[in-house]
Amino acid sequence: MIALTGASGHLGQLTLTHLLQKTPASQLVAIVRDPAKLGTHRHPGIAIRTADYDDTVALEEALDGVETLLQVSSSASGSVASRQELNVVQAAAAAGVRKIVYTSTLVPGADAVFLAGRTCGATEQAIKDRGLAYTFFRNSMYFETIPLFIGNALQDGVIYYPGGNGKVSFVSREDIAEALAIVLTESGQHENVDYRITGAEALSFAGLAGLLNARKGVDAAYLDIPEADFVEELGKAGVPQAEIEFTVSMAASIRAGEFEAVDDRLEKLLGRKRRAVSTYIGEL
Ligand SMILES: NC(=O)c1ccc[n+]([C@@H]2O[C@H](COP(=O)([O-])OP(=O)(O)OC[C@H]3O[C@@H](n4cnc5c(N)ncnc54)[C@H](OP(=O)(O)O)[C@@H]3O)[C@@H](O)[C@H]2O)c1
Repeated sequence: MIALTGASGHLGQLTLTHLLQKTPASQLVAIVRDPAKLGTHRHPGIAIRTADYDDTVALEEALDGVETLLQVSSSASGSVASRQELNVVQAAAAAGVRKIVYTSTLVPGADAVFLAGRTCGATEQAIKDRGLAYTFFRNSMYFETIPLFIGNALQDGVIYYPGGNGKVSFVSREDIAEALAIVLTESGQHENVDYRITGAEALSFAGLAGLLNARKGVDAAYLDIPEADFVEELGKAGVPQAEIEFTVSMAASIRAGEFEAVDDRLEKLLGRKRRAVSTYIGEL
């Protein structure tokens, strides 16, 4: 059986849709903390099991009989995310799961500038330490993060962000989901490897402004704002301190080039071209 954590989330639901085209529903287990959130993906044949990442007993029960687990990274941050992800790894090992496909980030590790990169690095290591087979999807930023970066630029024409000259190889979440379904169902393949999952090109924020111009007819420009101003604005908007630190680390990570790698692994997995970021922007 193949199970997914985060099955009610954007990536989880898309992956379930692709999995249903490749494998009988009776082979799938959707692990959620709230079954109601599965929405239209509440397919009658799929087993729905309830477990919160903070409940190790429920996690272990939910993983009973599961051979392969898609572990979607936690949507929390900092020590909460690390604890939740280690709970899942521990429960998987205890339940006898053979393999974990884990959604990591492009540059994981203790030295990562991006705080989520540190969490992902620790989780990858925990999976290896437990002796589980693995495939690590080291994902770049989703296309779907672009609206967060550009803010009101479609209206006022300015992207305000402390991204320096950093570039991001934005990638389609839909493409990632399709590739995950392929890897999850190609049993015995993709063992003990890490895949860099990126878009076809890395875009600077000036490049993003250029695409807004080309695809949306917006006379857009990028303003590389000081990090201190960014922090001040987030504070004024009432963003909690931990979230500010996370968000600032993301900008620093982009400036440090942690999201600029481009890799053709995704196209190899899909057997077709990736969705293009320019198309996504055209549809905004
Ligand atoms: N590469 C990127 O650009 C990028 C961007 C954003 C996030 N991410 C990472 O990628 C992951 C998947 O992305 P996504 O777009 O699918 O995120 P999402 O839509 O926010 O989905 C997160 C999933 O995690 C579940 N979840 C959260 N806290 C939980 C808990 N305590 N116990 C059990 N389940 C819990 C959510 O359940 P509910 O439905 O009950 O809330 C949801 O199913 C995220 O969690 C995050 O780690 C990557």
